[in-house]
Order: sequence, then structure tokens, then C-alpha cells
Amino acid sequence: MELDSFSSFPTSTTTTTTAMSSHQREIPEDSVASYDTALSIDACLASATEEMLEVTEDLAKDEDILRQTLSVRSTISTSRSFAERMQRAEFFQNTPLVVIGRGTCGTIFEIPGTESAYKKGSDKAALWNDANLTNIACRAVTETKTCLQEIFPNVSIPRVPVVTGWISENDLENWWRENLRRFPKDTRKTGYLFQVQRILPLPKPCREALIHLYFPKTMRESAHEDPDNKACLVRPYLGQRRGERELSNPALSLQNFPLYLDQIEELELEVEAIQFAEEMAIGLATIHWKACLDGMDMEFVLGSAATNGELPTVVENFKTVAPFDIPAGDVERRQVHLWMLDFDKAEQLCLKKSWKSCCDKMVTAVTANDPYFPNPAAMGTLEQKLWDTFERAYLLAASDLLLTQKALPKEASKYPALFLKAWKKRATELAEDTEGDFVEFGE
Ligand SMILES: Nc1ncnc2c1ncn2[C@@H]1O[C@H](COP(=O)(O)OP(=O)(O)O)[C@@H](O)[C@H]1O
Ligand SMILES: [Mg+2]
Repeated sequence: MELDSFSSFPTSTTTTTTAMSSHQREIPEDSVASYDTALSIDACLASATEEMLEVTEDLAKDEDILRQTLSVRSTISTSRSFAERMQRAEFFQNTPLVVIGRGTCGTIFEIPGTESAYKKGSDKAALWNDANLTNIACRAVTETKTCLQEIFPNVSIPRVPVVTGWISENDLENWWRENLRRFPKDTRKTGYLFQVQRILPLPKPCREALIHLYFPKTMRESAHEDPDNKACLVRPYLGQRRGERELSNPALSLQNFPLYLDQIEELELEVEAIQFAEEMAIGLATIHWKACLDGMDMEFVLGSAATNGELPTVVENFKTVAPFDIPAGDVERRQVHLWMLDFDKAEQLCLKKSWKSCCDKMVTAVTANDPYFPNPAAMGTLEQKLWDTFERAYLLAASDLLLTQKALPKEASKYPALFLKAWKKRATELAEDTEGDFVEFGE
């Protein structure tokens, strides 16, 4: 079964979730929109997911719902024409913006009815860095995806949201005059901003299951009703189990919900975790050896697939067929994907100058970040399996990516292995210092 035919133009629109087609019915779209915008785009995708879940027998348990949603084998299909989506986007041009994420550098706003978001912040240099490095990372993924997909046919290469617009200094005043009223009252401090592809939230049944399983009883009802929780992205923390601190302070928001290794194990998502480890490794290798970034403070989240493709559509026999409508969303594909984001603290690597300082930065980036990556110093069986998978995939992807990098010193072919070695050393030291706790960083 092909897991991700998403980037290439489909020759067939069949879907493995065959149950869906026989259960077509009107679904209230606002039931799954990231916010109460009745016609939000992700509604279509998420409602299809909900249908899939609804029609699957014996799916009463939250664990089953999460297993199915986060599965690396389930695929989903949606169909909404490009023209229809554009019409909707226009309709929503003046609708209020909704906060879907907050960090130390910026606040992210959904632009309702579109698959775009704004990132707004006061630090011009950090945002400019973020916008540009995000696109360097995005381009690196786009350019290497076909190649990497051949080496790793069964994985879905992590995506990077594309930055589609930056408001220049000259236009800022006008822009704010026209748009200020669209921002929620408590976010009306003007600043710099760029427009970026939105990572779509996980579908409603998944959000509900997370609340049932992991929120304190007294919070569940309010969590269900809290509109902020519609913008649900999950952070897979393959490098840490919950300790006392995490258990006594559970996450109370679905925005950036942390899913730790013990929860992954509890949910019997080991196969998924191994695949996510492989995908993260390919993603990190691409950031290092194609985009040439240190990856400082970058994030990995699980979100829903976008309805538009990441690579340009190529119709192989286009000369022999009449032009046709390309239903961008009508592609068989996995429903949940890893995304890489947040490059405001990242830096470009000068591999030609000093390998040692590059390696130091890369090691700090992976060890001082939140525990997305498997921890090479961890002892458990699953932990070691995850690290082995990660290491193998990282080295394989890196050696392929380095082939296309011109003008690097000869010894560059050894850098990926040297980096992993230095990472293991630092992780071991950290484990000794802090009894396995990762240093807290970011947000
Ligand atoms: N393109 C996006 N689509 C959807 N959610 C996003 C997107 N970018 C960021 N977010 C969410 O907003 C949060 C804050 O954004 P981020 O870029 O990490 O800001 P900061 O640099 O301030 O940490 C992220 O952790 C993520 O949950
Ligand atoms: Mg962040």
C-alpha cells in the first residue's frame, strides 16, 4: 500500500478507507473546524476522518481512536475543488483572526477559511530570520523529497510550512490600519508579521480522546468547550517518558499537546513511534545537510495533512490529455503527518569554515530542545530501538543528501557520523548530570 502519494499527481483517486465512500452524508462542517468558522477548509478533511472513525466498527475506546488517527497506515481522501476553496478564501477575507499558537517570539493567527496563518511578533530580526530560514528548510524538503522517497519508500517525509508573504516596512502602517480590527482585542499590539501555510489541526475524535484520556476529570468539560483546543497539534516526545513532574502537571491545552514515550507505549503506538523516529531522522538530516541549518529550537508536530500538495503537480503525459480540473484535495494520503517549524532561533551552518563550531551548535540544538528526538543515552528497549532506527535513517539520508552538496571539504562525508557521536557523548553527560532530565528550553 502506498502511504503517501500526496506529492505526486494521482493517477487514481481510490482510497483505502473504502468505508467512507459508502457512507457519504452531510457533516456539519463547523464540528471540526479549527474554530467556529462554519466553512473552514480543514473541516472537509477532518470530517472525512470523523466519518472514517464513525463507520469503523467497535471504535468506542479513546485508545482505539488515537491509535487509528495517529496510525501510519490509515489514509484519507477529500475532495474540494480549487475554485470552491478560492471562493471561500475571498469570503473570509474580512473575518476575525483567531489565535492558534503562542511562542516566545510570535503569536500565530488562523486566517479563517484559508490554509494560511500569520505569525506576528515584535522582534523584526527574529521574524525575518524565521521567515527566510523556514523557506530555506521548505525548499530543501521540496527539492529532496522525490529522491529521499525512493530510498525510504514507506515513510512520509516531514513537511515544512511554506512562507507566502512578508509585509514590508513601508506597507506596515497601511496594513495595520486595514487589518487591526481583525485581531482579537488582547492581541492588537502592532508588530511585524509574515504569512505562512497553516498546519491543520488533528481531527475532532482525536482531540476528544486526548481530553478523555489525559486531562484531569474536573477540566474535561471546559476543555471540550474551549475553542482554543480546536487548534490541536501533538508534539511527539520520543526522547522522554513522563516523570513525576509531568504527571503532576499534565498538559491542559491541546495546542502543542505533548505525547511522551510512556503514553505512546500505553497506546500501543510503538510501530508508529518507530516510523516517526525514522521520519524525524530524515527531517533532521534534510535540515542539516540540505538546508544547512543548525535546527536550534525547531519543533516537530503531528498535524493533519494539508489539502494542497507540497510539490508542483506534474502530469507525465500532459501532452496527450486535455487540461482538467485538479482537485487538490482528492489524493489518497496519510491523514497525520510530521511537520517541522519555528526557525527563528536557527542559524545557517558554515560547514566550509569550522566543522567544530557547526557540530557544537548542532549538538546543542538537539540536546537543549524539547525531547522530540530519541535519546541516545536512554536505556529502555523501546528507547534503543527508536535510537537505532533514528541513527540508521539519519546516516542513510545524510549520505544521500551530501552527494548533492558541492564545494564541501572531502571529509564532509564523515560529518553526519561525527555529529551523532558528539550527540551521544553530550547526551550521556547530560544523563549523568541530570539523571535523564533534558534541559528545559524554548517557550
Ligand atoms: N504554520 C503553522 N500552522 C499552525 N500552527 C502553527 C504554525 N506555526 C506555529 N504554529 C503553532 O504556534 C506555536 C507558536 O509558533 P512558533 O513559530 O513556535 O513561535 P515561537 O517562535 O514564538 O516559538 C507553535 O508551537 C505551533 O503550535
Ligand atoms: Mg515555538
